[in-house]
Amino acid sequence: MEQLHTVIIIGFFAVIGGAQNPMSPAPLQSPSYLISVPRVLRSGVPTTVSITILAKSSVLVISEIMQGNNSLGRAQTTVEGGSTKLQVLPPIPENDSSYWYPYKLIVNGYIGQTLVFSNSTMLQYSPRSVSILLQTDKPKYKPGQAVKIRALVITPDGKPCDKQIDIIIMDPRENLIRQWLAVDTLLGETANEFQLSQNPPLGTWKIIATVNEVTQEKIFTVSHYVLPKFEVLLDTPDVLYCEENLTYTVTAQYLYGKPVAGKMSVVYVHGFHGITSSHEDWKMIDGKAELSFDVPSLFHKKKSADYMSPFYEEFDTSDYIDINVQVTELLTGVTYNSSARVSVVMYKYNLEFQQHPFTIKPSLKFSAQLKLSTYNRRPLTAEDQSRSVTLTVNQEHLTPWMLEWENSANFKTRNSSHLEFIASTFIYPNGNISVKSLQLTVPADGVIPFQIELSENVAMLTIEVMRDKCDS
Ligand SMILES: *[C@@H]1O[C@H](CO)[C@@H](O)[C@H](O)[C@H]1NC(C)=O
Ligand SMILES: *[C@@H]1O[C@H](CO)[C@@H](O)[C@H](O)[C@H]1NC(C)=O
Ligand SMILES: *[C@@H]1O[C@H](CO)[C@@H](O)[C@H](O)[C@H]1NC(C)=O
Ligand SMILES: *[C@@H]1O[C@H](CO)[C@@H](O)[C@H](O)[C@H]1NC(C)=O
Ligand SMILES: *[C@@H]1O[C@H](CO)[C@@H](O)[C@H](O)[C@H]1NC(C)=O
Ligand SMILES: *[C@@H]1O[C@H](CO)[C@@H](O)[C@H](O)[C@H]1NC(C)=O
Ligand SMILES: *[C@@H]1O[C@H](CO)[C@@H](O)[C@H](O)[C@H]1NC(C)=O
Repeated sequence: MEQLHTVIIIGFFAVIGGAQNPMSPAPLQSPSYLISVPRVLRSGVPTTVSITILAKSSVLVISEIMQGNNSLGRAQTTVEGGSTKLQVLPPIPENDSSYWYPYKLIVNGYIGQTLVFSNSTMLQYSPRSVSILLQTDKPKYKPGQAVKIRALVITPDGKPCDKQIDIIIMDPRENLIRQWLAVDTLLGETANEFQLSQNPPLGTWKIIATVNEVTQEKIFTVSHYVLPKFEVLLDTPDVLYCEENLTYTVTAQYLYGKPVAGKMSVVYVHGFHGITSSHEDWKMIDGKAELSFDVPSLFHKKKSADYMSPFYEEFDTSDYIDINVQVTELLTGVTYNSSARVSVVMYKYNLEFQQHPFTIKPSLKFSAQLKLSTYNRRPLTAEDQSRSVTLTVNQEHLTPWMLEWENSANFKTRNSSHLEFIASTFIYPNGNISVKSLQLTVPADGVIPFQIELSENVAMLTIEVMRDKCDS
């Protein structure tokens, strides 16, 4: 190690004689203290200051390395009169500012509260002789996991160099838990593995690697994975009929089941025929809360706002309401959120023709079933059953000059409530259409059989069932 010590202080100080005259120093005497320090400050290496007090009194010596107005390390030692002591200042980490701003060592000596000497010197900065790169495979570990440690020793110009390295591991209480001393490196590199026990101290652990006098630290944390503190659950229907209010339940509870008291902010996003609009609400919650959102008035507003246009007809299967609930716990301000999408349907009942033939024959009976079910697949209530269903049957007749009946009719369902049979692709309406209305009652299972007498020259049959729609 280079021993280029520079004597920076050979001062004179007065020994304070007594209480009567504390502020007036005695006449100058022989040098009373001698302080030396290496001229060069080496990055990553502790700085050692040697202090000799030649006078009889003990002196409290405080040394500090400064860069501009920043203190980078400080040490204080009481040195007895007539003795020499070494003071070790912590190593200075290397960073960009190391090259730009000068370092200064300031040494002050006190007897009691009185400053008896003060001096300072600039220190030259020298980059480290070697640098150590320390890595772990992860920043966080769980008990029982293995910590994989890699160390690489490189010269200031970035080349790996083979030196012996010491590696130690300290737990959060700074207990030395494991050490590998004087480990040989291969191409500057060494790899070690440290197995955490099943029940290690939790917190911030430290790996310290040392090569010559250069040290490098790396921290890692050991914790049980932190799970969300509480969860927000929404119990909503997945389908809603547009004449009903959206009622649902929010549950906020800690993972161990205790209810959370807090404030809920709710944002509803209504997607309607491809257009969205937002509505906000809030409510307090204590574990559980019931909420309701007035959907019918939303639709009535839309209607009055002249939202309706035939163009929108096409989109009505994709209407929805997104619910976003954010619960903020009162005590901690911790926030968790949850969201759900509810489809909005325009019809309370689904109607479907079943068991119908795919061709029709003039003069025969046409039998089929109409299946009525609720939009949310719940069984039919007495009220549902009390409604009657009206079928409108149109038979368009062959004109005398039309093509022959083709035997296999062209069958279409344009939507679930509309059945259509066309006997021929060449139909010229002759205005002779018989329209019949059938009133059907709804049985408990919703399956409604019906029959139609086909006329002898039917060319086109359409059967339609009337339904009520929210917005029309
Ligand atoms: C500090 O030390 C230097 C060199 O030893 C000396 O010349 C200077 O006078 C000292 N300064 C004070 C304030 O004592
Ligand atoms: C250091 O502190 C002095 C006084 O507090 C101030 O005048 C000066 O600007 C500071 N220098 C820097 C580099 O911050
Ligand atoms: C460099 O280190 C000094 C002291 O450790 C610190 O005050 C400064 O913010 C650091 N600069 C950068 C760029 O990290
Ligand atoms: C829906 O909620 C509104 C406002 O709370 C209420 O006035 C209305 O009667 C409710 N409608 C239905 C169908 O429950
Ligand atoms: C819910 O929380 C996540 C994560 O903080 C955030 O990205 C998202 O925007 C939040 N959603 C709402 C509706 O606030
Ligand atoms: C079903 O289709 C018929 C014929 O295109 C149409 O008139 C009727 O409005 C449609 N019904 C629904 C509910 O879209
Ligand atoms: C209309 O059709 C009915 C039933 O097929 C038939 O009796 C009647 O003569 C037709 N009227 C005309 C004007 O074609």
